[in-house]
Amino acid sequence: MSKPVVLQMMPITPKIQAQADAAFALRQLWQAADADAFVAEVGGEVRGIFTNGIIGAGSALIGALPKLEIVGVYGVGVDAVDLAGAKARGVRVTNTPDVLTIGVAELALALLLDLARRVAYNDRYVRAGRWPKEGDPVLSNSLAGKRLGILGLGRIGRAAAKRAAAFDMAICYHGPHRKEGVPYEYVPDLVEMARRVDCLMVTCLGGPTTKGLVGREVIEAVGPEGWLINVARGSVIDEPALVEALVKGKLGGAGLDVFAGEPHVPEPLLGLDNVVLQPHQASATWETRDAMGQLVVDNLKAHFAGRPLPTPVL
Ligand code: 8YV
Repeated sequence: MSKPVVLQMMPITPKIQAQADAAFALRQLWQAADADAFVAEVGGEVRGIFTNGIIGAGSALIGALPKLEIVGVYGVGVDAVDLAGAKARGVRVTNTPDVLTIGVAELALALLLDLARRVAYNDRYVRAGRWPKEGDPVLSNSLAGKRLGILGLGRIGRAAAKRAAAFDMAICYHGPHRKEGVPYEYVPDLVEMARRVDCLMVTCLGGPTTKGLVGREVIEAVGPEGWLINVARGSVIDEPALVEALVKGKLGGAGLDVFAGEPHVPEPLLGLDNVVLQPHQASATWETRDAMGQLVVDNLKAHFAGRPLPTPVL
């Protein structure tokens, strides 16, 4: 029997690429000089999409693939997939929960530690030859005893909370509902939580329900001494308000892994020393990406073999 044709939207780890090559007839979109022409050429035979959390599968792509049966997302967030369109067509959608929780939480903590201890700033200080000329840089802050407010206490939020607790931080959280069996204080009002904490960490889901949730009022409530960390989606934060607050000193610092218009980062952030920037790296470890890729391959294989999907969204 011939292998099912799968449209692969981006590179994956060699180990998973080998497995995907063995199981599917891959059509690699990102290698094409003209993506639209490529979709027009191969679209009629495509039964599956192997995509990631940022590229997703929008309505135009889904509409261009008449034989599409399944979208496998290499990521937990499915906000870039046209879920309504997929549902209407009976197209299955899968994601990769759990396997990336620790990786994302680790990067959230790395950003937090960097904001507190100024690791990237001091690295730049040494490399620029400033130490012998200017002496010691300004002091940094300790994390111990600081208050951390987590927006979205899901799997990733909990893993970040556990790690922050190991640094002796006091933790509270906000979300639509109080969670049962959680040892952290629930704060029902987001502005109130932002006012109380030293660091607001965003770990909630993206998409329309959280768009712009962290607006000017929340950002200014975190305040000139406070930090904001985002490992969720750029869409959750009002990015122009964030940039303005950082430039005007109304927010103390930010650790950002995600942006509204990736891979583009607002220009004013590039010159700020109180900001640490990452090119969407939270799940980007060999361990995590292999596990994520494995889960996408397992979902696609299960679908084409008529077996239940390991991690269905739709
Ligand atoms: C990935 C993500 O970086 O899980 C998600 O939702 O955004 C990330 O894990 C992304 O899917 C890969 O580009």
